[in-house]
Amino acid sequence: MKKFFKLGVTALLSLGLLAGCGSDDKQVLVMGTSADYPPFESIDEATGEIVGFDVDLARYITEELGYEFEVRDMDFNGLIPALEGGRVDFVLAGMTPRPDRLERADFSDIYHEANNLIVSKADSGIETVEDLAGKAIGVQLGSIQEEEAEGVVAPEVDGLQIEKRNRIPELIQEIIAGRIDAAIIEDTVAKGYLERYEELSSFLLPHTEEAGSAIAFPKGSELLEPFNEVLNEMKENGKLEELILKWFDE
Ligand code: ARG
Repeated sequence: MKKFFKLGVTALLSLGLLAGCGSDDKQVLVMGTSADYPPFESIDEATGEIVGFDVDLARYITEELGYEFEVRDMDFNGLIPALEGGRVDFVLAGMTPRPDRLERADFSDIYHEANNLIVSKADSGIETVEDLAGKAIGVQLGSIQEEEAEGVVAPEVDGLQIEKRNRIPELIQEIIAGRIDAAIIEDTVAKGYLERYEELSSFLLPHTEEAGSAIAFPKGSELLEPFNEVLNEMKENGKLEELILKWFDE
């Protein structure tokens, strides 16, 4: 009897595995992110786990829809290729739907709005975009901040040098070390670093588009609609506001 039971369990488990299911028989969705973007996503130093607003949002939505989910960390620049290559089912990475990305991925409704700041050392004398003439400005590789630097800032000032890095903390460390003069970082994310490092200051980068965040899916994904439905429920039932208060203290 016992043996029969065991065999049964093993068979069920392997069936589950074959069908790509978790131990409790739910399908596992893989979320791609770039965990360098607190409070959206970062690695909790104590546990090594990826935590943040985006992770909680994904947890809520996938739970509501009856899926398990796991998070895969990679460079921001690799997220759209991972969607295209079918290595992840969706991306939550504070990612902004922009025309070039809409050609390669489908996006949910916006779940958070943000603006871009110029962050530099408080004693750098950089207080306006004009002050960036001849300076080195850092941006995350493949981000819309890279587009802003090239399309909006560079045409306005002479001799701007654009430095691209894979991870946001690298940009912060290089400003502090004096290897770059400033960086373009969205307000929600910059806030944490500005609080942590007193030697930094910031101002709003004018004339740029809002950097709203949305969930990205492979083109034609059937997940888009159900995810949007839950997202809109969350806007109505206060769940989204709850997560915003938890992570952004706005
Ligand atoms: N919102 C910007 C973009 O879409 C930056 C997002 C960066 N996200 C991250 N997890 N590092 O390009």
